[in-house]
Amino acid sequence: PRIAVLASGRGSNLQALLDAIAAGGLDAEIVGVFSDKPAAQALQRVPPALRWSRDAKSYADRESFDRELADAVAASAADWIVCAGYLRILGDAFVERFRGRLLNIHPSLLPKYRGLKTHARALEAGDTEHGVSVHFVIPELDAGSVIAQARIPILPGDDPESLARRVLEREHPLLVAVLQLAVSGRLNERGTTVTVDGH
Ligand code: GRF
Repeated sequence: PRIAVLASGRGSNLQALLDAIAAGGLDAEIVGVFSDKPAAQALQRVPPALRWSRDAKSYADRESFDRELADAVAASAADWIVCAGYLRILGDAFVERFRGRLLNIHPSLLPKYRGLKTHARALEAGDTEHGVSVHFVIPELDAGSVIAQARIPILPGDDPESLARRVLEREHPLLVAVLQLAVSGRLNERGTTVTVDGH
């Protein structure tokens, strides 16, 4: 199975997928890394032939950028598309085109804290736990069906950075596990319900 990754920054989640594939723990191939930030470190993690990036600022509107991105993703013949630290909102047309095989990793216990600055918001709210979710993408931001979550306690003295670091440690194995379910054909979005078929 073929996986495309959308990333705007560092790409540590992408690296976790690459490492799992190399170690034999994920039966898949990364067929492209797509970025709205030509300087994204994520791009450097794959060979040049697998990199696609365009500066979103040089497009007239969201639709024209999204259309080029969507065509490039489609050309990669990816079976699954993963947003891993992709910080640009995807328009409805993009989402509908790939719906059911488009996943996102989001650093909060959804439905809490959709959007940005999740770690600071969890701290400000006085929460005692926090975590990460992997979900199907729908047009509404961070609102698609949750597939899996990992939780961590919030500790006295935590700040947004320490919390982000501990959440990130849990992101990597969670994303690998969900992708392994996906590429083995066991993960399905049926309406708003996620099913995982056993073997
Ligand atoms: C992760 O925390 C991810 O959940 C969030 O952005 C961060 C990206 O990290 N959406 P990386 O680029 O995968 O290192």
